[in-house]
Amino acid sequence: VSGAKNAALPILAAGLLATEGTSKFYNVPKLSDIKTISMLFESLGVKVDYKPEENTLEMDATKPLLTEASFEFVSKMRASVLGPMLAREGSAKVAMPGGCSIGSRPIDQHLKGFEALGATIIQDAGFVEARAEKELEGSTIFFDFPSVGGTQNVIMASCLAKGKTTIVNAAQEPEIEDMINFLIKMGAKISGKGTSILEIEGVEKLVGAEYTIMSDRVEAATYMIAAAATKGDVLIKGAPYKDNVALVSKMREMGVNIEIVDEDTMRVSNKLDMLKPVDVKTLPHPGFLTDMQSIMSVLTLLAKGTSTITETVFENRFMHVKELNKMGAIIATSGKEARIAGVRKLSGAEVNATDLRAGAALVLAGLVAEGTTTIGNIYHIDRGYNDFVGKMKSLGANIERIEEIMAYEMS
Ligand code: UD1
Repeated sequence: VSGAKNAALPILAAGLLATEGTSKFYNVPKLSDIKTISMLFESLGVKVDYKPEENTLEMDATKPLLTEASFEFVSKMRASVLGPMLAREGSAKVAMPGGCSIGSRPIDQHLKGFEALGATIIQDAGFVEARAEKELEGSTIFFDFPSVGGTQNVIMASCLAKGKTTIVNAAQEPEIEDMINFLIKMGAKISGKGTSILEIEGVEKLVGAEYTIMSDRVEAATYMIAAAATKGDVLIKGAPYKDNVALVSKMREMGVNIEIVDEDTMRVSNKLDMLKPVDVKTLPHPGFLTDMQSIMSVLTLLAKGTSTITETVFENRFMHVKELNKMGAIIATSGKEARIAGVRKLSGAEVNATDLRAGAALVLAGLVAEGTTTIGNIYHIDRGYNDFVGKMKSLGANIERIEEIMAYEMS
């Protein structure tokens, strides 16, 4: 399993806070999103040396940064850069962030946090600007919802603020812990890691550091579910159980064999012709991760009976359903709920990836379907899966990339 996209993006953004020294990152995945954020950083005046084949990235952000992040880069991914830019330069203007179209994805919680630290927010035609007339000052911020990006952005904004910031109802995802670990290496003072209350004591400066990015728990989940769906037996390295407890419980409930080999490795196998149906509800961590529900739905199609998936985090995350139904699935959605009938057999079809994880779900469906499946819009998959085709082939999948050029090389 490669390095985690959703940890690498905020950790690289945190690297913008270093006014002294360079940072070097290891286990950086080869993804178009990493290429995009590198280009964004270069446009701000940061020196970046991204070596995707070696999975390393070095950056030198010590020169003053430009304070405007252009739409060209920010619209292609979802990274929290407003916070660190504001903390560094006292003002920042950023195009509204992109990423998967899985809901309206407002950033009001991020902005509320910056305002509490003393910034003024101006929103205008697709841009948001934050300005601090004087030094940012620590404050208490309560999140209405434990937003992952909001928590990351406000932590980064408050690291250099004067005094103490407390974030109440902070998100607790492992990717946030990974970012906090890097910030602490840079000299930040943060306590409460992994809990819903974080305290950040502002420091004078942060210094570049070396850091190894955690492995991608969604990528691990994808191979775990692929193994179970194809009745395979796969040893997955870079798959810590502690980061995927909810998934392991749900897969075991369905009858899948999961062995925790060591703290970093799991072995997933399945011999059952018929899995048991299951009910899954997506929630903030430690609940079932929303990014995994489309992939999980492929496994529930192979169960005897009806499963339900309730999506409580994003309002528009069932776009894969229409595509899966083209392959013989019987999935009905109503509001936040999808009811999935176990069909145990799918047929190959021409389908389209509608977002990153939906794209991965279609690949898994294609692996179990009879006949050939052709998946369009695979640039979504290139945003988040390091060498998906190569890794799947090494497991015995019959899969070819038809569109030779990766989104990575196009950008
Ligand atoms: C991050 C992940 C994404 C994952 C999600 C939830 C990255 C790059 N992306 O996205 O893969 O699915 O966490 O685990 O790390 N919300 C607001 N106001 C805000 C912020 C969020 O209403 O200011 C809402 C969103 O619309 C959404 C929910 O809160 O309904 C969760 O969003 P959030 O946790 O912020 O997700 P992201 O950081 O966008």
